Amino acid sequence: MGQPLGWGRRYLMVRPDHFRIDYVINPYMSTQDQPDQQLALKQWDSLRQAIIDAGGEVEVLEQRDDSPDMVYAMNLGFGTAQGKAMLSHMRFEPRRKESLTAAEWFMERDFELKRTGSDGVGPHFESGDAFVFGDSLVIGYGPRTEAGALEHIASEWNVRVRGLRITHEGMYHLDLPFCPIDSTHALVYPPALDAASQTELFGIVPDPIVLTDDEAFAFSGNSLVVDETIIMPACSPRLRELLTGLGLRVVVLDLSEFHKGGGSARCMTNPLDFDLAAASVAGGEVVLPA
Ligand code: ARG
Repeated sequence: MGQPLGWGRRYLMVRPDHFRIDYVINPYMSTQDQPDQQLALKQWDSLRQAIIDAGGEVEVLEQRDDSPDMVYAMNLGFGTAQGKAMLSHMRFEPRRKESLTAAEWFMERDFELKRTGSDGVGPHFESGDAFVFGDSLVIGYGPRTEAGALEHIASEWNVRVRGLRITHEGMYHLDLPFCPIDSTHALVYPPALDAASQTELFGIVPDPIVLTDDEAFAFSGNSLVVDETIIMPACSPRLRELLTGLGLRVVVLDLSEFHKGGGSARCMTNPLDFDLAAASVAGGEVVLPA
């Protein structure tokens, strides 16, 4: 077992008061298959409660009526325990109003807020692509985040950024094929990435737990670790054995309504306590797959 992650205790969530499928920006979404509002709220609340039961904290932000995807709070921005935040600059226009509310939220809480761009100008960055792991800030790019954002963040914050190029259309954010478990273990789904990035991924993660196709597409990689608990939307017997073997308590929740928009437990929860100390390097540095 590696060391505990050191982050993942404080989250921001958005209550699904206006959760709908109004447009299609990923392969899971269909305007013909709308979420059941009441069930969605019940499922969302079970996730909030599971985080609290695991020893975590949840802050709740109200959903904008004009932003049906805002329930996927993971994309509102990347925040650190030291009070830095990088706002998302969404790839798709229908999600950009979310950033107006997110910016207010971060500023009201005294985060030192930066951004890679806004209103389509400047590189896109969606924080569902970004995690601290090992000696770096690991950022997926391709479908949503653009490579230019990695440069921007590295020099803005003087951090080492390792990029992973996502090529799978069903795995459009890094939080779908990558889930840090502790300092050495992570759930990974290599087919989400191009060949060079797969090699890079195995260099970044000392003890990878490789997901099967079925596990990955059941959103098992879209899980979160809160202290000794892993909260997951699905867990095969094989995975359960591996995870309990690492000393984790596995909590499985039904989040079916949120899968209709293409997200699950991780997408619905934005960690606010990342720590960039281990990634810090003078001048910043971007390592891209060969
Ligand atoms: N419908 C949302 C979108 O396509 C889903 C976001 C999922 N969030 C995530 N962090 N992977 O943007």
